[in-house]
Amino acid sequence: MSQSIPFARRQLGAALACVALIALPLCARADDTAKGKIIAKRWCASCHVVSSDQTKGNSDAPSFSSIADDKLTPKTLKAFLSYPHPKMPDMNLSRNEIGDLVAYIRTLAR
Ligand code: HEC
Repeated sequence: MSQSIPFARRQLGAALACVALIALPLCARADDTAKGKIIAKRWCASCHVVSSDQTKGNSDAPSFSSIADDKLTPKTLKAFLSYPHPKMPDMNLSRNEIGDLVAYIRTLAR
């Protein structure tokens, strides 16, 4: 009997760790504008001017600050980025990456 209490505790600890591991990615996650900027520079800057320190992009692609100025809601932007766009390659962005990108783009509004 004296052995069963620590065992039960260990079981409980393991169970809680499992719950935490499963729940973490599901918990509300704050969109990260710094990550969004990194993704934008890596994946979007070949066409879009994505930040004020970038001088040149593809003339067909609107700058991110002009996108930020358009009255697109975060929801519209997220929906746009969730599907491949004819002139844009399919980037296969995750929901978190899209959230970070949209949060970053919105910091550029003038
Ligand atoms: C290969 C070039 C290219 C790349 C790379 C690219 N885009 Fe685009 N994007 C375009 C072009 C061109 C348009 C304009 C499409 C049009 O007018 O039909 C556009 C349009 C958009 C729009 C819509 C703007 C509006 O007002 O409707 C958003 C938002 C956008 N891009 C975000 C992104 C993001 C975020 C990335 C990086 C993950 C990215 N783009 C990467 C070329 C690109």
